[in-house]
Amino acid sequence: MTDIISAAPQLDTALFPDSFLWGAATAAYQIEGAVDEGGRAPSIWDTFSHSPGATRNGDTGDVACDHYHRWKTDLDIAYDIGLQAYRLSVSWARLQPDGEGPLNPEAIDFYRQLLGGLAERGIRPFVTLYHWDMPQVLEVAGGWPARRTAERFADYARLTVDALGDLAEDWITVNEPWCSSFNGYHAGTHAPGRRDLGAAVAAAHHLNVAHGLAVRSIREGAHPQVRIGVANLITDVVAASDRHDDIEAAARIDANNNLMFLAPPYLGHYPAVVHDLYDRYGLESLIQPGDLKTISTPTDFVGVNHYHQMVVSSDPSDPHLGASFTHAEPASTSLGWSIKPESLRNVLCRVSQEFTELPLYVTESGASFHDETDHEGNVIDIERIGYLHGYFGAAAEAIAAGVDVRGYFVWSLLDNFEWGEGYSHRFGLTYIDYETQTRIQKASAKWYRIQIARHSGQPKYGDRANSGIVPQ
Ligand code: FCB
Repeated sequence: MTDIISAAPQLDTALFPDSFLWGAATAAYQIEGAVDEGGRAPSIWDTFSHSPGATRNGDTGDVACDHYHRWKTDLDIAYDIGLQAYRLSVSWARLQPDGEGPLNPEAIDFYRQLLGGLAERGIRPFVTLYHWDMPQVLEVAGGWPARRTAERFADYARLTVDALGDLAEDWITVNEPWCSSFNGYHAGTHAPGRRDLGAAVAAAHHLNVAHGLAVRSIREGAHPQVRIGVANLITDVVAASDRHDDIEAAARIDANNNLMFLAPPYLGHYPAVVHDLYDRYGLESLIQPGDLKTISTPTDFVGVNHYHQMVVSSDPSDPHLGASFTHAEPASTSLGWSIKPESLRNVLCRVSQEFTELPLYVTESGASFHDETDHEGNVIDIERIGYLHGYFGAAAEAIAAGVDVRGYFVWSLLDNFEWGEGYSHRFGLTYIDYETQTRIQKASAKWYRIQIARHSGQPKYGDRANSGIVPQ
């Protein structure tokens, strides 16, 4: 194993600023399990994953990585890797099971222990308020297509930051509103599994509003000084050819996937191309006076989630955007996503040039493979090391080009429940044997530890030396 890792390509860590944060990310429903414990109510993902045919193999997050009971072990792994920052999400369905009213004290207690555990280990938390697990009761009341849900979210956000903001200074409102709205309400591949484009457009606008209302309500709360951002999935969209119809098709995909969620918070408007696509589905009539001002309430940083490039061709048989896409390279992950590091550099440069000069964090990037243990019980994921080497290198190129990239959260710390794909694709630095809940640090985790140590030598947050925790 050691030979393999030392033969692997090493990062030029001098290219990253001293304060650069080396992190990893997870999300509550994907790892916690314990769906019936601690006063948690069902979320849309419980309902969806238990619907016949909704997920691959009928997989659910009922147990997942059992992180709810094993969080100390998992934080020890994060510590052992040397993570300086950890992005987690808190579960709305756990914290506010009724979707309104006071928070559930057992959930507050759980998350306070978890955040306290990070502090003890000198790891800086970035906490996402909405990583897709809305209480089912709110979906029954209309879900994201109903404007009221955005108001409910802002209340939940404020209560949560009031309860936990002394333990976490960095907060992310919403994770990937494109996925929640278009996968959840149009494609039907994510919870709640609806197939209604008008509902998806309404969901998209209300998720944008929810973000802005949450920023405002957090600022009025007990910890107004916390730093806040939103994490968007930003795809590098390119036309398959220089034919006019391919270029137009790529522009429509870019409008739907990127501009609809990037322009309102930073530029204060929906671009004409978004109106062209969605006014006939009610976008203009959904926008109430003051909405764009709310959505563009100032924030402190931008979360960039990035995975792959999309090569787009015109496709008149597609009734939605008249487009189809493929991946650029023969190299791809188990999900068929292209491995093309320059696309990360492209999106980082684009966000800073076209949308905002706020600091950027890569809040997610990573690769899935069908990892297996070898005869010695090791997981030698050379391809993931190659991916991380390439994508961290691309972040360094963006930094060299003047982009203020402050950190990178590898998706993911642990193998976990990959939404509609269930457990069939593994993104973790840590292998999970789901039968026994054994954790095995993959070669990529050991490689990552070496890169972090080479860059810093020292932890960047808290004082690990005084934490009483001895590295293994
Ligand atoms: C992103 C999600 C994250 C994970 C990765 C692979 O879209 O935010 O939860 O599933 O994809």
